[in-house]
Amino acid sequence: MISLLFVCLGNICRSPTAEGVFRATCQQRGLSGQFRIDSAGTAGWHVGKPPDTRGVAAAGRRGVDLSMLRARQVEAGDFENFDFILAMDESNIEDLSALRPQGSSAHLHRFLEFNKSANSLDVPDPYYGGDDGFELVLDLITQASEGFLDHLIATGYIESN
Ligand code: 4NP
Repeated sequence: MISLLFVCLGNICRSPTAEGVFRATCQQRGLSGQFRIDSAGTAGWHVGKPPDTRGVAAAGRRGVDLSMLRARQVEAGDFENFDFILAMDESNIEDLSALRPQGSSAHLHRFLEFNKSANSLDVPDPYYGGDDGFELVLDLITQASEGFLDHLIATGYIESN
C-alpha cells in the first residue's frame, strides 16, 4: 500500500481536485487497492470546508465527485504518515520544506513533474480567476495522474494490472 498526500495552499481548489482525479484514475486502471490518498492545505483558512463550488462543478462534469471532501491543514506528522507528498506549486514546496521534520523519508515532489507535456511545474491557483482556471487545473492534474501512475509502475513501486 502506498500513501499519497496532495497539498496546495487552501485545500479547497487544486489539492482536492488532485485527490479526486487521482482516485478516479486509479479506479479506471484497476489500481485502487494499492493506494491511500488524502489532501491538505499549507494554510488553515478553510479547514472543515468542502471544495470550492466551481471546482466541484467542473470535476462533476468529468464524472469526478469532490463534494464529500473537507479541507484540513497539513501538519509535520504528515511527513511520517505518507510515502509521497505531492505539491501543486513552488510556494507549497517552500512551506512544506520548512515544516518537514529532520530525517523524514517522505518523497516531496511537485505533482507536475509527472506531467511531461506541462509548460510549467506549477498548477496555477484558480481561486481568484474564472471557470477556465478550474478546467486547466483538471487538464494538468489528469495528465499528471496518468504520468505518476506510469512512474510508480516503471520504478516498481506498484504492480500494473
Ligand atoms: P487552493 O486555492 O490552494 O488551490 O485551494 C486557494 C484557495 C483559497 C485561497 C487561496 C488559494 N485563499 O486565499 O483563501
